[in-house]
Amino acid sequence: MRESRYVLLRPPTLVSVIPLGQYPLPTHVVAHVSDPHLLAERRLYGAIDTHETLRGAMSRLGRLEIPPQAIVFTGDLADRAEPKAYVKLREIVEPAADAIGAEVVWVMGNHDEREPYARELFGEEVTEDVTQDRVHDVSGLRVISLDTSVPGYHHGEISPAQLAWLADQLASPAEHGTLLAMHHPPIPVPMVRAAEIIELQDQHLLAEVIEGTDVRGVIAGHIHFSSYSTFAGVPVSVASSTCYLADPAPVGRLLSAVDGHQSVTMMHFYDDRVVHSVVPVPDAEEKAGYSSELMEQIEALPPAERHELLSAKDSPVWVHENALD
Ligand SMILES: [Fe+2]
Ligand SMILES: [Fe+2]
Repeated sequence: MRESRYVLLRPPTLVSVIPLGQYPLPTHVVAHVSDPHLLAERRLYGAIDTHETLRGAMSRLGRLEIPPQAIVFTGDLADRAEPKAYVKLREIVEPAADAIGAEVVWVMGNHDEREPYARELFGEEVTEDVTQDRVHDVSGLRVISLDTSVPGYHHGEISPAQLAWLADQLASPAEHGTLLAMHHPPIPVPMVRAAEIIELQDQHLLAEVIEGTDVRGVIAGHIHFSSYSTFAGVPVSVASSTCYLADPAPVGRLLSAVDGHQSVTMMHFYDDRVVHSVVPVPDAEEKAGYSSELMEQIEALPPAERHELLSAKDSPVWVHENALD
């Protein structure tokens, strides 16, 4: 059993972890957040406090034992593209990201508009025809933010010029491969049929660009619930929204936005794969659990004793009447 101790440097956080199973620690940890739909005046539909829901997501990320190196926001950052909403977005996100040493990656969504997006987030003056595509280097993992928005519409498109730009970027592989971040997911949406109308158009053209490159993951948002598939042989993960869940199984409703079950998705990159874990944002009451102090004792044990302690059915750890301490 692997015994070496790994120390992850995530300034300003030092994390010391011993792998307890067959796998080494991930090479990269990325948080995927989507669709905060921020409003300058806070309440979406007069009911959902978009500032508080985003603060809740950032607070959750701030409490992870192994913090992310990057936080990728896959679009619909501002519900009505108000300049003040982008200012508020930065006020909420950037100090929280700085506190855990995470780089922030922004992506355009159909609710965003390019002029205020570029001005308020990047200090750049652009016209609405200038797509917002950017490349980030996260410790050797290339993260490409691809703008699939169409001015005046909710569906998604990628222009021939963008496809050529993307092909050019992907012509040279990155050290740890590429994560492609976009708003409109390039997958079917069988649970919410209305979403089919506002999907990404001409997806086969994007597939032709991605095939055979170092793209090892596509992440997206837009549909407001978690979903998984593949595209051009690449795993696709869609993160739900920090703002509201679009119930994927509503009863007698074409669409149903509910104030609950908000989540973010954690991505852990290994040499040969990426693992996605959905982390709920709203707190729920704990009914049983163990103190994290127990982990220090577990790490101090020889591997065979650790195995007995946590795998044996008659271990004192599992026969305890009330796990809460
Ligand atoms: Fe959205
Ligand atoms: Fe969207």
